[in-house]
Amino acid sequence: MAKTFDVGIESLGSNGASQAAAHQAVGRQAAPGGLLPLPLRGVRDGQSAVTPAAPAGKSFFLETFGCQMNDHDSEKVAGVLQGRGYHSAESPAQADLVLYNTCSIREKAAQKVFARLGDWKTLADGKIIGVLGCLAQQEGEEIFERAPWVSLVCGSASYRKLPELIAQLESGGRRVTGLDLDTDETFETEITRRDNLLRAYITIIEGCDYACSYCVVPHTRGPERSRSSEAVLAEARRLADAGYSEIQLLGQTVNSYRDPSPRGWKFVELLRAVAAVAGIRRVRFTTSHPNDFHREIVEAIDEVPELCDHVHLPVQSGSTRVLREMLRTYTREEYLQKIEWIRAARRPISITSDIIVGFPGETEADFAETLSLLDTAKYDAIFSFKYSPRPNTSAMHLPDAIPEEEKSRRLAILNERQRAIQLAANEKLVGQSYEVLVDGCHPARTQWGGRTSCNRLINFTSPHVNLLGEYVQVKVTRAGPNSFAGEHVT
Ligand code: 5AD
Ligand code: SF4
Repeated sequence: MAKTFDVGIESLGSNGASQAAAHQAVGRQAAPGGLLPLPLRGVRDGQSAVTPAAPAGKSFFLETFGCQMNDHDSEKVAGVLQGRGYHSAESPAQADLVLYNTCSIREKAAQKVFARLGDWKTLADGKIIGVLGCLAQQEGEEIFERAPWVSLVCGSASYRKLPELIAQLESGGRRVTGLDLDTDETFETEITRRDNLLRAYITIIEGCDYACSYCVVPHTRGPERSRSSEAVLAEARRLADAGYSEIQLLGQTVNSYRDPSPRGWKFVELLRAVAAVAGIRRVRFTTSHPNDFHREIVEAIDEVPELCDHVHLPVQSGSTRVLREMLRTYTREEYLQKIEWIRAARRPISITSDIIVGFPGETEADFAETLSLLDTAKYDAIFSFKYSPRPNTSAMHLPDAIPEEEKSRRLAILNERQRAIQLAANEKLVGQSYEVLVDGCHPARTQWGGRTSCNRLINFTSPHVNLLGEYVQVKVTRAGPNSFAGEHVT
């Protein structure tokens, strides 16, 4: 995978890896430890609060795999558990309840989860082990067959039922499942544990109504359900009151949002309204589907300073023929038209993308079109993947699978091309100054790290000693293909 905006201190801060990666198969604990421990916050419905005092009692350990939607679902699941008096354990060994919030977007992610479950084969005794998320939905009760020590299997479309399922386990239930897909509900919690002190996530739309032929998400997350604009705005206001200045709106297809309440807002209307909440200084959103990406989103970014200068717009392939096979609903030309709108904005907006290589039947000529699209789009970063056949997807049955070595070869070529594009573009930024929200520092405290509005991560020096959480001006002094170094402009 081509890395985005990474610098030497990318491990700093609890969210240092990447905003743009909508789905990355990396296992994390619910409260990841950066080099600087960022205090957790619980934000309670109707009031702001620090993490609620946990009574001495049962404890849980929650590990999260996959995308930011999963990360944020885990924050809500942790809130549900805290609301029931559970406290967070330091390690799975110490916990009464061990939960895995899983990803199945690529086979490797699914394998990782099964490996974790395997660890409990002889050790589970007395503990409740649960599987949540995409793999839970995909494998369903099969998980009990493969790992009989598991007691809870629940997909994200059934999270509303979690308190009830956990209550059943607490009162001695042996096996409980939440696997309904046909739902119009969204997952609302009274308490959400916030694992990042600086950036707060708000899910505005769950599920997906597209049917990309390679993708498990419509099957694992169910149909599209938008939250009411009132609920979203109320959450944004609570977060601002709790001290957050940066909000990221989340959805598998965030820009397909449609307010179910009578005001019937479109995505762009919600975006503007969230940006207008007092105290909110930065609003991000991910992931956008090109089909629902309209010019008015670019106009809003141009007009509203609080909207960050970054759009993640996955293309997946540069070949219209492959796009058609992927059921992506747009052509190369239609996609590039949208890139042109973004590039024509008054302020520079960074663009990132997801690309799959080795889709069944992808010819050398198709792949060459993807490479040439990189040259045209000049992305600021990409997330690149080898096609991975997934159960319950229509591409699973396509002929002409590309051999694994060939996929690897194409991936390497793609990443090399993109690296050169990033290096050339980044070098032009030397000498520019950016506002950075500081989210990490080197242990020696001589170096700080943070993100610009366009989501570039800059590693910088400063004479100041306490910058965490501050917005500061940083001048870029050096650029690499994935990283920037700079100095604090004081
Ligand atoms: N194989 C490889 N990559 C995939 N993605 C989704 N499904 C697959 C798959 N079966 C990639 C897409 C998507 C990103 C989150 O993951 O690029 O945008
Ligand atoms: Fe998957 Fe396509 Fe839906 Fe994105 S839009 S979640 S790639 S089906």
